[in-house]
Amino acid sequence: MKQNIVVTGGLGFIGSNLIKILIQQGYYIINIDKFSYSSNYFNLNDIDKKKYKFFKIDINNQLKIQKIFNTYKPIGIFNLAAETHVDKSIDNPKEFFKSNILGVYNLLEATRNYLKKNKTQFKFIHISTDEVYGDILKNKFSIETDAYNPSSPYSATKGSSDLIVKAYVRTYKIPAIITNCCNNYGQNQYPEKLIPRIILNIKNNKNLPIYGTGKNEREWIHVLDHCLALITIFKKGKIGENYNIGSGKILKNIDIAKQILSISKKFIKTKSKIIFVKDRPGHDKRYALNSNKIKKKLNWKPKYNFINGIENTIRWYLNNKEWLKKLKNKNYTNRIGMKN
Ligand SMILES: NC(=O)c1ccc[n+]([C@@H]2O[C@H](COP(=O)([O-])OP(=O)(O)OC[C@H]3O[C@@H](n4cnc5c(N)ncnc54)[C@H](O)[C@@H]3O)[C@@H](O)[C@H]2O)c1
Repeated sequence: MKQNIVVTGGLGFIGSNLIKILIQQGYYIINIDKFSYSSNYFNLNDIDKKKYKFFKIDINNQLKIQKIFNTYKPIGIFNLAAETHVDKSIDNPKEFFKSNILGVYNLLEATRNYLKKNKTQFKFIHISTDEVYGDILKNKFSIETDAYNPSSPYSATKGSSDLIVKAYVRTYKIPAIITNCCNNYGQNQYPEKLIPRIILNIKNNKNLPIYGTGKNEREWIHVLDHCLALITIFKKGKIGENYNIGSGKILKNIDIAKQILSISKKFIKTKSKIIFVKDRPGHDKRYALNSNKIKKKLNWKPKYNFINGIENTIRWYLNNKEWLKKLKNKNYTNRIGMKN
């Protein structure tokens, strides 16, 4: 029997990687994406289009989303459609409220109406972030029961939608699960974000701007490990729960930049140097997750080793000229998010 799954935000970084794996696993995918600046059609260039349908729609379009649910009768949805760049959220929070809060409300309502008419097996996987927990002190790790304490408009909108999802589970019995993942790296990421930005600056002999002192720490997971965790949660996760998804690999931003610069020099010559620039307002110092729950209860663990993963990622960005050419918005180097 054909098993249909809706993925929202599937033209973006994580969504496109997830769709490729879901198609390999035999699912038919309905991708809903509004094709914003961080999307790239080339991200899904090589998939089997017989197993895939794309709708260029905003998740706020209630009528169209409802129609897709009623037509395709999906067994689940992975919601990855979101505004995702913290710096952008500092300049223009309203876009984040629309997609990350109202958009999620709309998907929950579509699910509620769909499940009223169709008594079917269904799971709503809502993809959130470790940033909802806010700054974490040295030697501490966020667990799923910790209170949310977001610092940026981005993380506040993600946290808000997580709370709305929880309320829909409790009040309307929507079969939803929330996932909180750390920073991802890998192919298909729009170069406004730290890792692809550094690699492309190295390629273009530009300096590597690091915010503040560079001592801010982030946990880094390979995007494919994140996607496999999401599918594990879809198959085995418990309704109403949150699952942290982390790798345990925590690095200072300055150390990431140094490692990428040194690995890149194996492949190309560059004049790039690390430079420190004015810090981001409200910049969280440290995120770190305790991921014991998904490891123990769902038997998931990350497979990718950071050094191999980052080297492959560097090679991918250095070699994929076609992907770069197909970027919707090539203006990704300007400094934004400075407003206080
Ligand atoms: N990238 C990370 O490190 C990371 C870590 C943890 C969680 N997440 C979460 O994972 C999800 C995906 O992140 P990403 O890094 O792939 O982002 P991305 O910016 O690469 O992709 C987001 C996609 O969502 C689409 N989109 C945005 N608003 C939409 C709307 N209103 N309607 C339809 N489509 C819309 C965009 O067009 C884009 O294709 C987000 O929810 C993000 O919060 C990301």
